[in-house]
Amino acid sequence: MSKILVTGGTGYIGSHTVVELQNNGYEVIIVDNLSNSSIDVLDGIASITGKKPAFEKIDCQNKQALAEVFAKYPGIEAIIHFAASKAVGESVEKPLLYYKNNLISVLNILELMGEQNTYNLVFSSSCTVYGQPDILPVTENAPVKPATSPYGNTKQIAEEIIRDTIHADNRLKCIALRYFNPVGAHPSAAIGELPNGVPNNLIPFVTQTAIGIRECLRVFGNDYNTPDGSAIRDYIWVVDLAKAHVIAVERLLGNKNKNGIEFFNLGTGKGLSVLEILNTFEQATGVKVNRKIVARREGDVEKVWADPTFANNELGWKAETSTEKMLATAWEWEKRLAKKNSMS
Ligand code: NAD
Ligand code: WQD
Repeated sequence: MSKILVTGGTGYIGSHTVVELQNNGYEVIIVDNLSNSSIDVLDGIASITGKKPAFEKIDCQNKQALAEVFAKYPGIEAIIHFAASKAVGESVEKPLLYYKNNLISVLNILELMGEQNTYNLVFSSSCTVYGQPDILPVTENAPVKPATSPYGNTKQIAEEIIRDTIHADNRLKCIALRYFNPVGAHPSAAIGELPNGVPNNLIPFVTQTAIGIRECLRVFGNDYNTPDGSAIRDYIWVVDLAKAHVIAVERLLGNKNKNGIEFFNLGTGKGLSVLEILNTFEQATGVKVNRKIVARREGDVEKVWADPTFANNELGWKAETSTEKMLATAWEWEKRLAKKNSMS
């Protein structure tokens, strides 16, 4: 049974990936400092897979503590590095926190890979590296545009650090996955997204409005150059996204990657506007979402969606889940949270 170290494994995408790894026979060791997740997530994972993954409460900025994980669990074959701070707006206010957390963690992971003879890395990157692409859908060959936030910059810099490190040490391999907009939750509603405070992202704000935690969803802009005037994104179900990580690990362990570092877009290939998302949510759940149109949000791009052909062909992976289903799982998760909160 191959051992996989998953940093940020109690987080949103990490926890769904741990489920898929365990369901595919991998032994998972989670490292997370719980800065943006809860230890209870381990119970959620166990309720789905029948097994609680090993867990170490460690900050990835602490290299010594990470090294001890390799000593405690010998034979780790690959690392999936999710751990990072991810709030775009917060990164503008606290750039140093973001540069420190996201980049020192990557530096530590890369150093340890060489030192501990663990040569395989899956890295969480983001469509944010493309900014507003000139050509849509966007392929992996599109130019990386100047970052519009310190958060986005940490992803660009991390990709470059990884590229240079792999170039200098040909034992190391990485698959960098550029996620588009991950949404929804596991169908069991045992794990899902846990936004900290007022959500920045669209879907948690929609579900919180639908359930009555928020009064009204603000649609940021209806004057974009899009069919209905609202901004367009590529929303991908988190479970589809999680499955791509298992395939990426298999590709690395099977030495099937073609370069030291490979980049893959993980999206559906379909762009949807904010208003289309709201209408689909209402149709899928039968629940109305109170909304009002407000000004554009600073820093938002107008439209972006993926060309996922490279991932489809090379990884043999495809995100096929319907928008209705992904939004329905987000709603089931919100209801589950409400029930849990009412009992505590
Ligand atoms: P998340 O905040 O739910 O998960 C990240 C996890 O990492 C959390 O559990 C947090 O406690 C942990 N963490 C943060 N810093 C740490 C550190 N120094 N040491 C140990 N643990 C630490 O976020 P997510 O949505 O699951 O995102 C996972 C990764 O995917 C991140 O790298 C993020 O930048 C990237 N990403 C996310 C999105 C998105 O929209 N959710 C899109 C593109 C890329
Ligand atoms: C989606 C659309 C908003 C909230 C962010 C990061 C990106 C990546 C994914 C990590 C936009 C609109 C939103 C609301 C709205 N993360 N919206 N009302 O901005 O595409 O991407 O998450 O790498 O880097 O920037 O996602 O969910 O915030 O917004 O109208 O209350 O919904 O304007 O058009 P975004 P989002």
